[in-house]
Amino acid sequence: MSDIWNDLTQRAKDAKARSILSLFEADADRFSTFSAQHDGLLLDFSKTNIEPDTLTALHALAEAANLPAQREAMFSGATINVTEGRAVLHTALRPDPSRPVMVDGEDITVGVRASLDQMAAFAEGLREGSILASDGQPFTDVVNIGIGGSDLGPAMACRALSPYIAQITPHFVSNIDGAHVADTLAGLDPQRTLVIIASKTFTTIETLTNADTAVAWLKEAVGEQYGAHLAAVSTAEDRTSAYGIDPARVFGFEDWVGGRYSMWGPVGLSVMIAIGPEHFSDFLAGARSMDSNFLNAEPGQNLPLLLALVGLWHNNFCGHESRAVLPYDQRLGLLPAYLQQLDMESNGKHTTKDGKPVAGMTGPIVWGEPGTNGQHAFYQLLHQGTRIVPAEFLIAAKGHEPGLAHQHEILKANCLAQSEALMVGTQQADPQPTPERRFDGNRPSITLAYERLTPFVLGQLVALYEHRVFVEGAVWGINSFDQFGVELGKKMAKEVQNDPDALARMSASTRGLSDFLT
Ligand code: F6P
Repeated sequence: MSDIWNDLTQRAKDAKARSILSLFEADADRFSTFSAQHDGLLLDFSKTNIEPDTLTALHALAEAANLPAQREAMFSGATINVTEGRAVLHTALRPDPSRPVMVDGEDITVGVRASLDQMAAFAEGLREGSILASDGQPFTDVVNIGIGGSDLGPAMACRALSPYIAQITPHFVSNIDGAHVADTLAGLDPQRTLVIIASKTFTTIETLTNADTAVAWLKEAVGEQYGAHLAAVSTAEDRTSAYGIDPARVFGFEDWVGGRYSMWGPVGLSVMIAIGPEHFSDFLAGARSMDSNFLNAEPGQNLPLLLALVGLWHNNFCGHESRAVLPYDQRLGLLPAYLQQLDMESNGKHTTKDGKPVAGMTGPIVWGEPGTNGQHAFYQLLHQGTRIVPAEFLIAAKGHEPGLAHQHEILKANCLAQSEALMVGTQQADPQPTPERRFDGNRPSITLAYERLTPFVLGQLVALYEHRVFVEGAVWGINSFDQFGVELGKKMAKEVQNDPDALARMSASTRGLSDFLT
């Protein structure tokens, strides 16, 4: 492994002496060599400073990390989340009928299918009006109360798939800041609203506090019938019962599903209610298609593997510390926030699975905003700033608004122009610009392109990113599936809130701030 690592380090040094553009000049087929497609999704990574030998070395890195065996271990339910003693089986939530997944001698895909059927019956009942509110009238709105993995995925997917939403409008409340729940409920009629309390553990302070607020709001309007307006999603059915939720309205799942990987099952209930079970099934099919690509495709055609290798190259060898996610797709506006949890909570780790310090850099900083908005904000830094930020563009061939096709053409032109401009700079167009007008170019990007943002495509994209995070974590030898790094701040917040002496033990800064805020 260290030989490959050293070789790639040298290659990154060599790459500094050449331009990405020169790689195109040397190879007329570069676009086809450095791009791959699967089921309508195109990954172009030709606008990076990777040449064939570098790609071969990157593949060798994945091989040296035993990626095929690590991948098989995840898909087949081995206990790869070693610190928590759990399997990692979100892929079983979009089950492949030809691949049973045995855990403790039982095929868990049978239970997954039953759970999807339970969700579909509930979602369909709400949508067609056979499951009614306490006054016997249909529901029009659903509020998902959850945070992190119990919020970001469903909220992102509902925004992404808004053209498919019918009958019931989804809303999301996550922040403990009362402004969030107050502003959301203010626009809603409690008589017409179903509240889903989504929490894997059912212990999360934000979710339980917001749930109390929403239950009080329901009770005030509908009285003791408020239970007809509640449902829950959790692995902790004892806690949902203690909270008073009708067990028939509880959608359970197992602890082999990580929170940030959970929207394919019951955590996606709000999505299924909003877009309907058929579209939800297409969303799962998209993810399954990417699972199959990840499991079966040759390395050169394996989209998650290639995306991860590009990420490793930029992060570990070129020293680029962040990646910008730039969807030229307004409805993917929450994708960067979703990927921040998926990537940074999974791979922001300093310790290997064996408990040793990680040798190099782990998870990069993930951030971004949709284009073209970002162009009028932070692209200045992408083009002329002193740090290089690899950009990741997403673009559809077509939008969902046939009457606005001309706007989509402008959107596409901007997306194509930005990746070209980042790479080419002013080298060709204006060879002698004044310094402030000079663009050095040579800034890498990748582009993900698809026909249209459908449920299937969204499923492909999310599974692609999940597997990319897995591959990068596997190469670093870390456990991508725990998140102990979130605990210390939570513990201290509890102390500040509940222990009158806690502040006295804290720094003068925290005490001074607390005094000011009193
Ligand atoms: O604090 C982090 C975290 O545990 C995330 O990993 C998780 O997605 C989120 O909180 C919410 O947890 P839960 O679904 O148990 O309420």
